[in-house]
Amino acid sequence: MDGTARAGRGEFVVTDPLTPVLTKHWLGPESWTLRHYTELGGYEALTTALNTPADDLIALIKDSGLRGRGGAGFPTGMKWSFIPQAKPGEEPTGPAAKPKYLVINADEGEPGTCKDVPLMMADPHSLIEGCIITSWAIRAHYCAIYVRGEVVHCVRRLHAAVREAYEAGHLGRDIHGTGFDLDIVVHAGAGAYICGEETALLDSLEGRRGQPRLKPPFPATAGLYAAPTVVNNVETIATVPAIVSGGKDWFRTMGRERSPGPKIFSLSGHVERPGQYEAPLGTTLRELLDLAGGMSGGIPLKFWTPGGSSTPLLTAEHLDVPLDFEGATEAGSMLGTTALMIFNETVSVPWAVMKWTEFYEHESCGKCTPCREGCYWLAGILRRMVEGHGTEADIDTLLDVCDNVLGRSFCALGDGAVSPITSGIKYFREEFVALCEAQTRHPEVERIVELSGASA
Ligand SMILES: Cc1cc2nc3c(=O)[nH]c(=O)nc-3n(C[C@H](O)[C@H](O)[C@H](O)COP(=O)(O)O)c2cc1C
Ligand code: SF4
Repeated sequence: MDGTARAGRGEFVVTDPLTPVLTKHWLGPESWTLRHYTELGGYEALTTALNTPADDLIALIKDSGLRGRGGAGFPTGMKWSFIPQAKPGEEPTGPAAKPKYLVINADEGEPGTCKDVPLMMADPHSLIEGCIITSWAIRAHYCAIYVRGEVVHCVRRLHAAVREAYEAGHLGRDIHGTGFDLDIVVHAGAGAYICGEETALLDSLEGRRGQPRLKPPFPATAGLYAAPTVVNNVETIATVPAIVSGGKDWFRTMGRERSPGPKIFSLSGHVERPGQYEAPLGTTLRELLDLAGGMSGGIPLKFWTPGGSSTPLLTAEHLDVPLDFEGATEAGSMLGTTALMIFNETVSVPWAVMKWTEFYEHESCGKCTPCREGCYWLAGILRRMVEGHGTEADIDTLLDVCDNVLGRSFCALGDGAVSPITSGIKYFREEFVALCEAQTRHPEVERIVELSGASA
């Protein structure tokens, strides 16, 4: 294990003897300032990058094996290489003749996911430096950071950091005397989960209602304002300066063959010290729990999500699954955003599954029928069960509806919505059956009724 740092509950701990990469700036006083970032070697990678031909930079990121940290794990260098560019000495035509755009996905709406906001709060300049390097590589002169508007403190911090970068000559006209121009705009979204889906994000950025677009065409050829666009996650782009400085071989010393590099794992729920833990991809939950002081109160683990609520639940059997893109998939789940929500034996699976499903019901954008109708009915059936009026037949109805949503929805929100239900029933069917047989309200419902003073 190469690096870990933790920022939880207002305190910071670095776990010796590890060497953090992405979180290495987080522990310093006023770590978010340009002064602090520069003192620790910040913006040196930019100088290196601006002296490197753009195509060589794309090759470097390809060879490093960096994969997107926004959930799907798409190879970053390959994504950049899809941007159409004019051949040397030729007049650009078609999409290659259009402006190119870089859009940073800082929407972070997946339940349990809480890595990008801490990163932008503690170290916004690593993202900004990554944006400038990426823009140089893909030949973009305009970059938008689409950040969740509810995190006002984060929006303000980004604005301040972008201002500092302009004042230092890292942004604007003729950056570092190279003739390269770049503007970064911080755009605050209005807080819809679907606006994290890259094409819905682009619609929202253009001022329209955020709903997914039909693909193809993909953003690489027709993205923002129908021009070639790279959409990347915050953590993905904040990793780029480290690769430019350290090189691909150094980057590949961390993680695993097909999933190299460090990753921020966000531990929440029933752990002694919840927070952000940086560790190489392939680290297991058992190792992460050791770093986090174990399960809180020593109560055993029951279930957990490896990467947010859209990734199928895992159980105590999966403590030693290597948390990288392949390992999580082989275990029947997905790495997602490495948002590890950890639940002990006191938590009811049907209750947790109902709460997640209510989230998807609320956030479904309504564009396609399987997800719009499916999420509505799934949440209704689960509520009925938790209210003590479910039947065993409802369990099969749930699975049947899930089957009509999975793979039949317009975007991946629908697929994600059924993950907690199908995996919850797969591992804990007997709990759903017991709830239906008991025909009594779940204790949590009783508690809420009592608190609200209602009688029925
Ligand atoms: C419903 C939904 C929400 C998403 N939310 C986010 C998000 O908040 N942040 C993010 O980076 N990617 C999110 N994604 C994934 C993006 O569509 C896209 O894959 C990602 O931004 C690509 O960046 P990467 O290649 O750096 O991972 C979401 C996808 C879906 C279907
Ligand atoms: S799957 Fe859901 S969120 Fe995605 S387009 Fe369909 S209704 Fe909208």
